[in-house]
Amino acid sequence: MKKTIFITGASAGIGKATAKLFSERGWNVIATMRKPENETELNLSSNITLLPLDVTNLNQIKETTQRALAIGDIDVVFNNAGYALFGILEAITDEQMVAQMETNFFGVVRVTQAFIPYFREKRSGLFITTGSSAGLMGFPVSSMYDASKWAIEGWSESLSYELNAVGIGIKTI
Ligand SMILES: NC(=O)c1ccc[n+]([C@@H]2O[C@H](COP(=O)([O-])OP(=O)(O)OC[C@H]3O[C@@H](n4cnc5c(N)ncnc54)[C@H](OP(=O)(O)O)[C@@H]3O)[C@@H](O)[C@H]2O)c1
Repeated sequence: MKKTIFITGASAGIGKATAKLFSERGWNVIATMRKPENETELNLSSNITLLPLDVTNLNQIKETTQRALAIGDIDVVFNNAGYALFGILEAITDEQMVAQMETNFFGVVRVTQAFIPYFREKRSGLFITTGSSAGLMGFPVSSMYDASKWAIEGWSESLSYELNAVGIGIKTI
């Protein structure tokens, strides 16, 4: 039976490349992005479904999760949406630093939380999150980005204990 991967931030970069790779390898792909109406490439593949998702929008996370699960079984959730905020700390506004954590950290947490009940019920499933070397060491002028990626590492490691116990995997790449 075909497997299915759900991807966040599939409009560009690693997310889009992942959608294409899995599609080419015969998986069903649910490629989510903020503006699916602008997508001109992934929409051409019969095994790729586009759904709208801004990972900072909790209501949309809930709606899109339900829409994705209504399509069929999901095996892998790839939390990939994110961006890097660069700059010396005193030049960064409060709004910018909160937005960085809302996207890179809470976006991942909230999408994962939305899928856990489904994976728990079937006692299988895998969460993968795009981490960074900036989640393992600190770099200059990226303190908030690095903090968001360090947070992902600690959160994933802690969560692995409660998820692995019920057959669910969680990884950072
Ligand atoms: N490229 C690298 O060298 C590198 C290294 C380490 C880690 N990473 C990580 O890899 C991930 C993907 O980055 P990339 O390099 O592929 O960058 P990218 O080409 O800029 O792609 C980022 C993706 O995230 C999406 N995104 C941003 N904010 C979002 C939000 N609020 N809701 C939903 N989607 C959102 C973007 O969507 P829009 O098109 O709507 O903006 C885009 O699809 C990120 O988590 C990044 O931190 C990248």
